[in-house]
Amino acid sequence: MSRIIRKVAVIGGGTMGSGIGQHIAQKSISVVVKEANNERAQACKDRIFRQLDKVVKLGYITLPEAEGTKARFSTTNSYGDIKDADLVIEAVFEDIKAKKSVFEELNSLFPEDVIFTTNSSSLSITEIASVTNRPDRFIGTHFFNPPVKAPLVELVKGDKTSDETFTAVNRFVQTILGKTPILVKGCPGYLVNRLLLPYLNEATLLLTETKLTVKQIDTKAGSFGWPMGPFKLLDYVGIDISANVARILCEGYGERANPAPLMYRLVELNRIGDKVGAGFYSKMDSIEDIQKTIDREYPNRSELDVEEGFKRMMAGLCNEALMCLEEGIASANVIETGATLGIMFPMALEGPLHYAQEKYGFANLLADLQRFEGEYGMRFKPTTLLERLVSQNKKIFEKAEEEEW
Ligand code: 3HC
Repeated sequence: MSRIIRKVAVIGGGTMGSGIGQHIAQKSISVVVKEANNERAQACKDRIFRQLDKVVKLGYITLPEAEGTKARFSTTNSYGDIKDADLVIEAVFEDIKAKKSVFEELNSLFPEDVIFTTNSSSLSITEIASVTNRPDRFIGTHFFNPPVKAPLVELVKGDKTSDETFTAVNRFVQTILGKTPILVKGCPGYLVNRLLLPYLNEATLLLTETKLTVKQIDTKAGSFGWPMGPFKLLDYVGIDISANVARILCEGYGERANPAPLMYRLVELNRIGDKVGAGFYSKMDSIEDIQKTIDREYPNRSELDVEEGFKRMMAGLCNEALMCLEEGIASANVIETGATLGIMFPMALEGPLHYAQEKYGFANLLADLQRFEGEYGMRFKPTTLLERLVSQNKKIFEKAEEEEW
């Protein structure tokens, strides 16, 4: 029998941990966020309380709701304050060693019926769970940024995750947190970051290989229907976070997932996005305009039409969606849900598979990918599924709601 969840412990009070904690507290469940030291615990609490004050002013929640949330939300640097929690959500930095060492510590602290979850966005759940005495009561819960608003949670089982654990966490995410859970097969980047990273990576490569600018590419993405252009999104999520996920994908998929060097250069320059006030964009006069930095560091760039550049970004995303379908990472409908609710792929287009089938056209996508592969290399190698769909003149979705695959 799974426990009734009255109190949740979140390990790590960074952007995701604190946001997940805030969301849970807004949903009437007590939360304690555990940080490494008192200073960080206090900073996390101050940040969330300020955020709650802000959203009251914006009219998104009422003052009593904010006060109730504050009463249910606390932070600590002590394990003593979390050991009576009914569910643990770990949200420390995306590093397998760091996550394993957290769970080694948590293991003896909690009774065996307490479910452990990790907010990993790309790592092996089986490997993280292996350091605990409850790999059957262990599951990946990948929340998206901003956790209070992003509607999707990817659930990823490890080899030993039990059906009971999946059911309990699925129910918690859906009925208590009010989010849409999707079950995806474990692989580096799971489903959603596998779709997002080729798109963000290609956008970043365009900046150093061509004369296209941050503004041109973001404007084009906005007119396509994305709520944020790739560079606004990178700044929002954190370029350091994205560069780290890009590295994990490259370790998993090799050359075809080679990260764009500019992401690492910006990390070196500490231009890691909104949290430091500078990334691709900056509001500070003291920070050099990104185009000047690019002109100086990458002087040999070619002319390219923005339509062609954007096509490279979208073709890579669609190809990865087809690859995920081919590999059985998720069904066609789940891929579409993951893209539209996880990374806000324009809802009107229904997702990358519908877009590839209905708007882009499989034959056009294949022709573009073959051309791009010849020009830019193996990251554009078309999936065999796409080749088959074209040669057999087949569709993925025969009718609006009928799925063939
Ligand atoms: N309760 C509490 N806070 C609320 C709220 C509510 N009911 N409703 C909104 N808010 C908060 C929002 O979180 C936001 O906070 P922030 O400014 O600190 O981010 C603020 O109020 C303003 O919200 P709005 O909805 O009014 O703002 P916008 O309309 O400008 O939308 C956005 C902002 C939600 C970020 C939107 O642009 C968006 O959805 N962008 C796409 C984000 C995206 O793609 N996320 C996925 C990233 S990938 C990822 O996370 C995976 C990782 O592993 C890399």
